[in-house]
Amino acid sequence: MKNFLSVNNAGNIDDLIKTALDFKKNPLSNQSLGKGKRIGLLFLNPSMRTRLSTHIAAQNLGMEAVVFNASQEGWSFEFEEGAVMNGTTAEHIKDAAPILGKYFDILGIRTFPSLKNREEDYAEKILHQFVKYCGIPVISLESATVHPLQSLTDLITISEHLPINNKTKPKVVLTWAPHVKPLPQCVANSFSEWMNAWGKAHFVIANPPGYDLDKKFTEGATIIHDQDYALNNADFVYVKNWSSFEHYGKIIPVENDWLLSQKKLEVTNNAKIMHCLPVRRNVELSDEILDSKNSIVTEEAGNRVWAAQTVLSEILNSIS
Ligand code: CP
Repeated sequence: MKNFLSVNNAGNIDDLIKTALDFKKNPLSNQSLGKGKRIGLLFLNPSMRTRLSTHIAAQNLGMEAVVFNASQEGWSFEFEEGAVMNGTTAEHIKDAAPILGKYFDILGIRTFPSLKNREEDYAEKILHQFVKYCGIPVISLESATVHPLQSLTDLITISEHLPINNKTKPKVVLTWAPHVKPLPQCVANSFSEWMNAWGKAHFVIANPPGYDLDKKFTEGATIIHDQDYALNNADFVYVKNWSSFEHYGKIIPVENDWLLSQKKLEVTNNAKIMHCLPVRRNVELSDEILDSKNSIVTEEAGNRVWAAQTVLSEILNSIS
């Protein structure tokens, strides 16, 4: 593995899940792998789980991790080719990224979409410029369109909850939920493409009309605009808000009540409830569900360490 930017870099997903579960059993089993190596964790946007879990994962492998909150503590980056930098930006990515490549062996980057310019966001303009100019392996800590470390975590979590020697495909429903702010489509896009690539579940996406995701991520999924119908016999319900892809970055009016309730979940197969977090309680998911025994959101967030450790070990193996 050279870079980890999306499911396209994952290789065999079941092998990654197995490695992650081995690390979960024995976190310090490969402490010499990262000895003498350093990772830079560059955040252009806020984070709690991603920065802490990736830092811990690096330490578990014997690596040094340096966190840089670039948006708060660094110079503001310019990404336009040929820009006349007489405005607010102070350092061009063409100058900054190669320096990061000198300081670190691996670079992790978090960068959110603008939610204003769909073409630029979906071209992953910022992430790809870091990759182009830094010259070292890059790990996405969530980018404009996907969040692969989260998605690997989600598949690890689902796998752990499947019965041993399970022969039937579980039903996994990704359901849209309300929110007060326009959010990126990243987590939903990413979960969709990983679920489809994994192929070990009957995968359904439930969202209101006008909230269909980009088809390139959902190919292979069943898309339903009726949440109650979609929830029937679900084994896992992944709850997430996203803003409209069609009316890019907008919150558009929704007719029905899409906030999940225990009553709505009665038609499921005693489904486990997932969410990437952070979650706005009683807006996106209710207390009664988050605090119920079926919620596995904390366990899911805990698994972020093993997903990050797996990806780091794959990259370290390829560069050492
Ligand atoms: N799920 C997730 O990526 O959380 P953070 O934004 O806190 O990193």
